Amino acid sequence: MEYALLLAPSSNRVYTAGAAALGAAELAAFSVGALDGRLGPVAPIELAGRTYLGFSVADGPLGERDLAYLANVSSAFALFERVEGDLLRPIAGQPLDRYDDDLISIQKYSGKTNEHFTKLLLNVTVLASAFADRMLERKLTVLDPVCGRGTTLNQALMYGWDAIGIERDQQDLEAYSAFMKTYLKRKRLKHNAEMTPLRREGKKLGRRFDVTMAPDKAAHHAGETQQLTVFEADTSLARSLLKKHSAEVVVADLPYGIVHGSRGPKGIARGPQELLETALPGWVQLIMPGGTLGFSWNTHVAPREEAIALVEKAGLRIVPAEGFSHWVDQGITRDIVIARRD
Ligand SMILES: C[S@@+](CC[C@H](N)C(=O)[O-])C[C@H]1O[C@@H](n2cnc3c(N)ncnc32)[C@H](O)[C@@H]1O
Repeated sequence: MEYALLLAPSSNRVYTAGAAALGAAELAAFSVGALDGRLGPVAPIELAGRTYLGFSVADGPLGERDLAYLANVSSAFALFERVEGDLLRPIAGQPLDRYDDDLISIQKYSGKTNEHFTKLLLNVTVLASAFADRMLERKLTVLDPVCGRGTTLNQALMYGWDAIGIERDQQDLEAYSAFMKTYLKRKRLKHNAEMTPLRREGKKLGRRFDVTMAPDKAAHHAGETQQLTVFEADTSLARSLLKKHSAEVVVADLPYGIVHGSRGPKGIARGPQELLETALPGWVQLIMPGGTLGFSWNTHVAPREEAIALVEKAGLRIVPAEGFSHWVDQGITRDIVIARRD
């Protein structure tokens, strides 16, 4: 059976010429992680002037569960069965999304990680873990140890999961907590949200922001709530903030190692290598056995081999993740590394 996936126009805008290649790489990750490798090679096809990703499926048509997975591909706009040639039949899919998408799209700020890419990185990281087969049913916990204003955290919440963030920038925590409180009120979602001091050994370290939320009243009453926690702290302290094995996946878009827009010098304080050297050992302990770490970084400031060497030194096993390198900006080419804690 042949299929064609239409890419979202917005993902074309983000990745320009690289959209099809990234989409193909993400589909391959879904195939390996959740579809028993049944997707054949993915290749761009042109139909009536639009680019689709074409692929075939061994052993008959995609089942309901396969489609439920593929409904979450970050760059997917619509999936079609190729009836014959360029005759397409649309296939309905039910994504995991449980909140309006403005949870992810409203916040706009310099230094925000693109939301499509954030979803891609989260997907690929989870799919490489031992928890990939439970992605549709189970509530996972995602930790973003350099969470900024929460793009990864919001994607995790969108999927119905719990989210933990660490961010040392005071303004980011303030902006993110203000956004969340307004969002939850405006959408009339049952929740509790509070900011409290974060103390360690009697000393005030920073603050923490805790939210308990649910998509509707019924879920809230049934105790099916989601938990969001953000620590205002340096991520090298991650292990002292959280119990070991706190998260199935750790997902991070590392600082690029250059000044970002008008945000001043925070981007140059630490490049990705230095951050990995100091913080990785702590992050690794927070990952559950079978869980994965997925991060992206600017390959102009740290070559791939160096990033891989640091990850291996920290005791993780690299999971192949090819075809994700892409141009972001002048001076930024982003790639990803996925590694598993066995
Ligand atoms: C590329 S940005 C991540 C942006 C985030 N994904 C978002 O969309 O808002 C990297 C973040 O790492 C934070 N950061 C850098 N070094 C840190 C450290 N040592 N501890 C905690 N956060 C750090 C920066 O303040 C910045 O917000």
